[in-house]
Amino acid sequence: MPPENTIICGDCLEVLKDWPDNCVDLVLCSPPYEDARTYGIDFNLKGQEWVDWAFVRFVECIRVCKGLVAWVVEGKTKKYRWSATPALLMADLHRAGVYLRKPPAYYRIGIPGSGGPDWLRNDYEFIVCATKGKLPWSDNLAMGEPCKWKECGEMSYRDKDGRRKNASESERRSGLKGHTVAYQNPKIANPGNIIKCRVGGNNDSRLSFENEAPFAESLAEFIIRSFCPIDGVTLDPFIGSGTTAAVAERFGRRWIGIDIRESQVELSRKRSEEEKSKMALFS
Ligand SMILES: C[S@@+](CC[C@H](N)C(=O)[O-])C[C@H]1O[C@@H](n2cnc3c(N)ncnc32)[C@H](O)[C@@H]1O
Repeated sequence: MPPENTIICGDCLEVLKDWPDNCVDLVLCSPPYEDARTYGIDFNLKGQEWVDWAFVRFVECIRVCKGLVAWVVEGKTKKYRWSATPALLMADLHRAGVYLRKPPAYYRIGIPGSGGPDWLRNDYEFIVCATKGKLPWSDNLAMGEPCKWKECGEMSYRDKDGRRKNASESERRSGLKGHTVAYQNPKIANPGNIIKCRVGGNNDSRLSFENEAPFAESLAEFIIRSFCPIDGVTLDPFIGSGTTAAVAERFGRRWIGIDIRESQVELSRKRSEEEKSKMALFS
């Protein structure tokens, strides 16, 4: 096992091979999106070749992780045709027996894609998620908001025959089977699976601009606070500018990063040091 709060240089597939099963609590990352960027390493895989490259690395992430594996991914659109690689990756993982969870959307407010002359603006990216079954730890209200309605409003559901029923007093108190704990704690509502993040501008560390495609600190905050216990370990196998490390540090989680480029290893070390200095200022 590598020491925690460290960045390792290498291909994550090779690095992870030597790690034991279930040694981290959360995996959060975004790999290269097909040949959208070459990252100075001539990365140029696309279509099924990209899916095959991603598949083996995703499966290795599942092996080393006790909890959630969350990969932010996007396909490419060329000549009016979407490559569908996030969906193809999910299909291959599903067929191989992986427990996929319904993918949340990373909804980017600020710099969405144009969508082209005839299509809708591209506001979101998929977060491909897998677990080994029920999560050993999660706090799905960590990023929830105060309820709109008093006591979450009138609680009702549909029967198998489609008729709407109001919940009984005991269901109301204990939560409906198959529904979330939000019903048991009426002050906070489950935030839902569209994760709204302001991107671009000066929201995040300036150091993030030194990676070609950083994700937002607010996205990392959402996933880490919801799915990594305090003092647990978050792994980012494609750490880039170190967004995951900085945010894990900020919220009292341990972290490990991997990147194939020495430049990004240096950058994310610098970013985690920057975060530690900021925290020291406020402590
Ligand atoms: C989309 S960027 C990650 C950005 C990161 N989430 C951030 O916020 O800065 C993808 C990163 O994966 C790295 N990478 C590409 N292939 C890799 C591999 N096989 N193993 C580890 N890192 C790799 C690239 O060097 C690049 O920094």
